[in-house]
Amino acid sequence: MQKKIAILTSGGDAPGMNAAIRAVVRTAIYHELEVVGVRRGYAGLINGDYQQMNLGSVADIIQRGGTILQTSRSKEFETEKGRRKALEKLRQIGVTGLVAIGGEGTFRGAWELAEMGLSVIGVPGTIDNDVLGTELSIGFDTVINTVVESINKIRDTATSHERVFVIEVMGRNSGKIALAAGLAGGAESILLPELPLDLPGVVANLKRGLARGKRHSIIIVAEGVGDCNEITRRIQEESGLETRLSILGYIQRGGTPTAQDRILASRMGAKAVELLLAGQSGMMTATQKGKIVPVSLQEAFVPGNDLNMDDYELAGILAI
Ligand code: F6P
Repeated sequence: MQKKIAILTSGGDAPGMNAAIRAVVRTAIYHELEVVGVRRGYAGLINGDYQQMNLGSVADIIQRGGTILQTSRSKEFETEKGRRKALEKLRQIGVTGLVAIGGEGTFRGAWELAEMGLSVIGVPGTIDNDVLGTELSIGFDTVINTVVESINKIRDTATSHERVFVIEVMGRNSGKIALAAGLAGGAESILLPELPLDLPGVVANLKRGLARGKRHSIIIVAEGVGDCNEITRRIQEESGLETRLSILGYIQRGGTPTAQDRILASRMGAKAVELLLAGQSGMMTATQKGKIVPVSLQEAFVPGNDLNMDDYELAGILAI
């Protein structure tokens, strides 16, 4: 029986995390639970860096990017000693349940805590959308929109100067951001870490486009593919076309969350509290076929990827 729960955000911040915090806090209070906010992710859990949450502490945050609880990537929490310390601190204040919002790294920590006896529910929040077991994570829709807006702007210069642009996007080892933004942004080529690097293929695409009158080309490269300076240099050298690189960087992580991310965050945050109340632990709130369902946190650690290869092929066909 839960009476007092804690909430934290961990790993890279993502737009929509605040909407999820709001949903967790308000749903918990609605069900007469006490809620403690943990500052700075797992680092704050170890140090007992807490703040009491009430209805007002999550007012006016649904539209804000980042995370009001702040976040970190804690090395100490990766050790058993660190995790024991964190658990001890939570027990001292009577916390019996935890909602952890973050990506795969966050879920590894969350799983360990669940194994140690705490009731833990994970909420996928990462722009990378690389958590296996869920079709969507909070922040993905916003990042795609941010990247597409940037592609639109770069396209103006690309057309005016008849240049090739290589645009590097985030995603760590995943090509999800690159693929979705490349399809939505009408990219000529999309380079993904999940596939072998085929620069001759990229150059052939460029030449074919040029021959049929294209005045510019956009090549989206996921950061996990490798050194984009080198990729840009080789494309210019092998195609003979003026080629520029634009690395979008952290501009992708910030900003106001889209309506879709806010809705997802609201649904997942509420579901996380409901799962704790139903006595569940070691699960994440996942989306599958449009529904929010509980899925084991361990699903996130299964090796592999769930890249949509149909979308990859479609993007190639539409760029002819
Ligand atoms: O996981 C989100 C992300 O922005 C990745 O896309 C990127 O590789 C990484 O975080 C950057 O991490 P950091 O904020 O530690 O530099």
